[in-house]
Amino acid sequence: MCGIIGYIGKRQAAAILLDGLKRLEYRGYDSAGIATISDKLHMKKDKGKIEEIDRRLNFADMPGTIGIGHTRWATHGEPSQKNAHPHIDNAGKIAVVHNGIIENYEHLRHFLRSNGYSFYSDTDTEVVPNLINYFMRQGHDFEEAVRSTVSRLKGSYALGIVSLDEPDKLIAVRKESPLIIGLGVDEMFIASDVPAVLPYTKRVIVMEDGEMAIVTSVKAIIKRVDSGEIVERKPLEITWTIEMAEKRGYPHFMLKEIHEQPDAVRETLRAAQKELDGLCDMLLNAKRIYLVACGTAYHAALIGKYALAQLAGMSTEVVISSEFQESCMADEGTVLLAISQSGETADTLKAVRVAKANGAKIACLTNVVGSSITRESDLVCHTYAGPEIGVAATKTFSAQVAYLLSLAIRLAEKRSLKSKKELNELAIQLHKIPETILDTLQIVEPKVKDIARRHKDATNFFFIGRGIGYPIAMEGALKLKEIAYIHSEATPAGELKHGPLALIQRGVPVVAVVVPGASYSRMLSNVEEVGARGGEVIALAVEGDVEVGKHVTELIQIPKTHELFTPLTYILPLQLLAYFISVERGLDPDRPRHLAKSVTVE
Ligand code: F6R
Repeated sequence: MCGIIGYIGKRQAAAILLDGLKRLEYRGYDSAGIATISDKLHMKKDKGKIEEIDRRLNFADMPGTIGIGHTRWATHGEPSQKNAHPHIDNAGKIAVVHNGIIENYEHLRHFLRSNGYSFYSDTDTEVVPNLINYFMRQGHDFEEAVRSTVSRLKGSYALGIVSLDEPDKLIAVRKESPLIIGLGVDEMFIASDVPAVLPYTKRVIVMEDGEMAIVTSVKAIIKRVDSGEIVERKPLEITWTIEMAEKRGYPHFMLKEIHEQPDAVRETLRAAQKELDGLCDMLLNAKRIYLVACGTAYHAALIGKYALAQLAGMSTEVVISSEFQESCMADEGTVLLAISQSGETADTLKAVRVAKANGAKIACLTNVVGSSITRESDLVCHTYAGPEIGVAATKTFSAQVAYLLSLAIRLAEKRSLKSKKELNELAIQLHKIPETILDTLQIVEPKVKDIARRHKDATNFFFIGRGIGYPIAMEGALKLKEIAYIHSEATPAGELKHGPLALIQRGVPVVAVVVPGASYSRMLSNVEEVGARGGEVIALAVEGDVEVGKHVTELIQIPKTHELFTPLTYILPLQLLAYFISVERGLDPDRPRHLAKSVTVE
């Protein structure tokens, strides 16, 4: 998704902007560009990977100590040089980078055309510098012209703007697209995300909707766009180190993040204890509970549903965010818990807004402090997985699952449905789970690497599971398709006989998620069923399970845990399987094609 970076200070802006762009790469992009100001406005931009563009255009020779940069993920207009950002006004004095969508851009284009302006791209963004130019020609200064422009925009936007007429300031505007200000010493930054500024500062201000910031090299003044009123906001001290946002010696962010799961879960469980009572009260007072999310977060929500039902006797409905508005009913008695790693997913934000408009109460669970979803929610809960750079979610999935398991235990305590002793034991086991995750990683990694080598050329994979094993299977299948580009399908094992079994024949790999508990023996029958048709069963089962081993081609043994906690251990070999197959196939697991880390369009 689009990424913005801006710099004003004493150093050469282009070098810092280029570095910032590289740190925003994980958001997904198709083109990139930089504009700087010295005695004139300089701009270089193109389609492609940042390093290739840099090799072609050489950003390093751009003079100036103020500038803006952008990574674009096309929404209006195909990926191309002319559609890449920054965009400039007709006079070549104002440059703008934009993340989001300007819904009324056609109307604004028409207005500007009738005032003599021309357009050179297919983007919605190009109206912005020209409208600023229009207002400056009416006698407004830069800041006033930006304010007048923004008040005419409909849609969502984070903007970074520079003007040759006032080269000592950088203006940032935010509405429904993330934007932060990084506070340095005699230098300031704006960015879509914290990792872009981390090498330079750990002090950041998170901008809120409807705000603009006038940033010079020594200060950032935040104002409400509508009233012009100054907003005082304390900077946050970011505790993430630069190393946390880098690969730490792993070949890929994804592998690093898989190995960070013990910490991600530990930190999340620790922090959750403070937040859980508020969330429990909200849920206990609800007539209807929706868990809403996309992709991996949706799978975590399904696990949450299972745990809430099993432990707390509570019924919830889990809905994919993009389906919410068509299929769900929300009213004053409804609580919607939105789960989103980034807190910026447009589909999830939309579901939240629809539910809210109908009177529902909103709680969110997100990994990003200050993200958009936190501003839309009545109650904000956090996972503490740290920044996740790999596009495929791994440690944030485990953190979400850990949070929801902790929630289910707390709700069960409050509803007194289980004995205190039983719940205490579960809570103790859950707090020990980070060590079990660590052990599991060590045990399964060499085995999975080997299996990946043998199955790297498969064209189809099936994943089967029952009960809590089914969402684990779904998450395993999603990982494999997104980073290894192998068609993979998860099906509840009991559904095999209703159709999918027709596809099982000699050599088809079938990953069987065999969790302990009530479904175990039925799952065993399904494993046999697949084996009898020649399917190559790769089974995940608890250490020491001799039964499963009799019917499978490969057996991955997982240290024993309570059935409800198996998502936190069983998911590890599945993440690793996808990772190693992706690497074996010569792909880049951190940057899967066509996908973005933060999906900020519906
Ligand atoms: C898969 C993946 C996506 C995200 C989905 C939701 O590995 O990362 O499926 O889970 O786009 O993103 P968030 O959680 O940021 O709302």
